[in-house]
Amino acid sequence: MDRRAFVKGCVFGVGLICEARRVEAAPPAEYPRVTLADAAGAPLRPSALAPHEAYCFFYPYVSTPCLLLDMETPVPPALPVPGDTRPGGVGPRASIVGYTAICSDQLSHPNAGFSPIHYLAPGQRDALVRDRDRLIVCCAHSSAFDPAAGGRVAQSPARLPLASIVLEWNAASDALFATAVRGPDSFERFFTAFDRERTLVAGPARVVPLSAYSRKVATC
Ligand code: FES
Repeated sequence: MDRRAFVKGCVFGVGLICEARRVEAAPPAEYPRVTLADAAGAPLRPSALAPHEAYCFFYPYVSTPCLLLDMETPVPPALPVPGDTRPGGVGPRASIVGYTAICSDQLSHPNAGFSPIHYLAPGQRDALVRDRDRLIVCCAHSSAFDPAAGGRVAQSPARLPLASIVLEWNAASDALFATAVRGPDSFERFFTAFDRERTLVAGPARVVPLSAYSRKVATC
C-alpha cells in the first residue's frame, strides 16, 4: 500500500471510530409517552396491523414522520453500531417496531404528496436493492435499513442507522404507546433544512398506512 492510500485509510478509520463514539456519547432525549391510535382516534390494537405493511405516524414532534411495522416474527434487541442499543419488537409476537422515517443520509422523508421511503415486504424487490427484502428503502439515493436489526444500514450511502422509536405494549389493555427515541436522530438538521414545527406530540399519535398518508409511495 502506498503512503497516500495508507493515510487515507487511517483517516477513514478514525472517522468511523468518531462516528461510533458520537453515538455512544449522545444522551437519550426525553420525549412524551403517547398512545398510538387508529385513523378514527381509538387505541390502536396490534391485531389491526397487517404484517409487513408500512404505517405512518408522527412522533415525537408533530412534524417528524415515523414508520410502524409488524415484522410478523419476534424482533430481538439489536446493536446496529457499537454503543447504540436498540429495543426489540413489542406486541403479542414481539414483532412490532418503529423507526423515524427521516432518512439518515440526506433527510428524505414522506409527505402527503410523495414518499421516497418505502418498505420492501417479503418477496418484493427493488431494482436498486438486489436480492433483498424486509428492508426500509430510501429511493432518493437507494439507502436501505434493516428494521429487524435496529435500523442498521443494509445499503449505503447512509452511514448511520435510522433512529428507533421506543414502543410499549400493555398486554392487559392491548394498547400501544410510543415512549422515546433511541439512536442518532436527525431532528435538528430536519427542522433547519425544512423549517418545520418543533411542537411535541401531545395527544394520541394516529397511525395510518403509509400508502394512505402519501398519495404516491416510491419504488426503486
Ligand atoms: S436521502 Fe435517503 S438515501 Fe439519500
